[in-house]
Amino acid sequence: MCGIIAYKGKDKAISVILEGLKNLEYRGYDSWGIACKSNPSIVLTKGVGNIGEVTEEEIKSELYKGKPLTIGIGHTRWATHGGVTKENAHPHQSENHRVAVVHNGIIENFEELKAKLKNIKFKSETDTEVIPQLLQYHMESRKDFEKAFVDTLKELQGNYAVVAIDQQSDKVLFGKVGSPLVIGKKEDEYFVASDIPAFLKHTNQVIYLEDGEYGSIGDSLKIYKLSNNQIINKDVQTVDWNLEQAQKGEYPHFMIKEIMEQRDSITRALEQKNSNLLKVIEMMKKAKGIFLVGCGTSFHACVSASYNFSHIAKAHVNIVLASEFRNYEEFLTDESLMIAVSQSGETADLIDAVKVAKAKGVKIISLVNVMGSTLKRMSDESLLMNAGPEICVCSTKNYTSQLAILLLLAYGFADRLEEGKELIQSAANKVEELIKNNLDKIKDLAKKLKDNKNMFLIGRDLAYPSALEGALKIKEVSYIHAEGFAGGELKHGTIALIEEGTPVITLATPETEQLINSNAIEIKSRGGYIIGIGSKKHEVYDFYIEVPNFKQANPLLMIVPIQLLAYYLAVERNCNPDKPRNLAKSVTVR
Ligand code: G6P
Repeated sequence: MCGIIAYKGKDKAISVILEGLKNLEYRGYDSWGIACKSNPSIVLTKGVGNIGEVTEEEIKSELYKGKPLTIGIGHTRWATHGGVTKENAHPHQSENHRVAVVHNGIIENFEELKAKLKNIKFKSETDTEVIPQLLQYHMESRKDFEKAFVDTLKELQGNYAVVAIDQQSDKVLFGKVGSPLVIGKKEDEYFVASDIPAFLKHTNQVIYLEDGEYGSIGDSLKIYKLSNNQIINKDVQTVDWNLEQAQKGEYPHFMIKEIMEQRDSITRALEQKNSNLLKVIEMMKKAKGIFLVGCGTSFHACVSASYNFSHIAKAHVNIVLASEFRNYEEFLTDESLMIAVSQSGETADLIDAVKVAKAKGVKIISLVNVMGSTLKRMSDESLLMNAGPEICVCSTKNYTSQLAILLLLAYGFADRLEEGKELIQSAANKVEELIKNNLDKIKDLAKKLKDNKNMFLIGRDLAYPSALEGALKIKEVSYIHAEGFAGGELKHGTIALIEEGTPVITLATPETEQLINSNAIEIKSRGGYIIGIGSKKHEVYDFYIEVPNFKQANPLLMIVPIQLLAYYLAVERNCNPDKPRNLAKSVTVR
């Protein structure tokens, strides 16, 4: 995925766009670019690497030629088609340099379109460049930027959020299918971006665009349906995210800030209207076949929930990775129910899974953090995580919010909603103390483990998904190979990798400690270094982190020391935990 920001308003396009791109870097940070409308031509600058270090002065020296810059577009890229080079960085221009375009998504028919434009010389290897070139092609016959833009959009197949500017027009044009695009409005200033943090400093008044909509910002904002060019009246909504939530504040990284915030984010997750929860629970009770579906961390929340549904609700749920969901198509009927779990609500594999389910008449409940997301809009019912913006690429606070809501649903299913709320809140209230008691120990542990090549995590029952998620956190940000297993599984092969000093994190709950500690003994006898996490110390542990026992809510707390360990491992190894290599916050490609 990539990040887009466009601005039209006062003579401050450079600073708004630069800042917006810095706030969108979690969406991609291979390369970046900014283009502003100037006279006599569009001015453009691009760079490889992340934009974090680039200053306004540097950009100004490239773009500002003493003329007001009130219209501009910017892009931060996560490469798909074409390597990470300056030529491939957006914005892309038409051959005649009249228009400039930024795009997030994939143009599936770009080769076909390129063939049609065979007389035009392309500069990059991207699929995106067909958009400005096609725009130029249509402008030659249409003689009108907006009409040519509409003709262009109609020819694109695939996913796009696209914004275009024209040197000879004062309009900013935009359109979307499949990728997110939201408009911010502040009196006579307009922002168009992939996500709200890009412009949250300026306004919290937003308009969410739906697929198949396009529009223009000229003297005013106009939005149309692409299929029939009819104008649409859209509501302006107020978002309740605040700027502090979208900024690092005193913390060196978003990851540590977001880990530290978890008492509050879990508390906010619990602030669901009972009527909404009960509606969802009712749908679950009625359903014949419930599928919990997600990707990455969100999938781990589903795995954890499957134990809660079994233990508390005595209800059978299927857990399926979104990218594999299609293979279960034959089991879907119009009485099935899908619970789609996603921080961003934009992950392409999950959106595809939802489409497969909807085609079979399946009802969709989504658990999302981003209010105007595609997934939320595709759902019959939706519960918001209320975690606030999660900026670090790896998910921490949103994971515990997902765990909290899914656990609450399990309690609700068993008609014990209030009991569930109390348990989760009391666990949340312990987060700060847990961090305070263990922070220095975990920093020391990270120093000790930082040069290891492999690490293993084991847990049983509810601690098993925590082992999966813990391993993912360590891999994502520190690049140490880590694998999570069910306690019983390590011995079926992987134990062959245990050598003198191999770190193994064991996650114990009171119900599973006996068996998991006996696994730890097996590992230790082969030289493993045991890091025990749980409510009771055991002599087999070489290192112990105490996590208080909150029964079914244990996963909410158990993951916190591992999140911290992953963070400090990244710091020790000089990796930027907020922007891990090759990753993107939400993956909008298949
Ligand atoms: C990406 C992120 C992961 C995240 C996954 C699912 O791979 O790097 O951290 O867990 O997407 O994202 P979602 O927004 O659907 O929860």
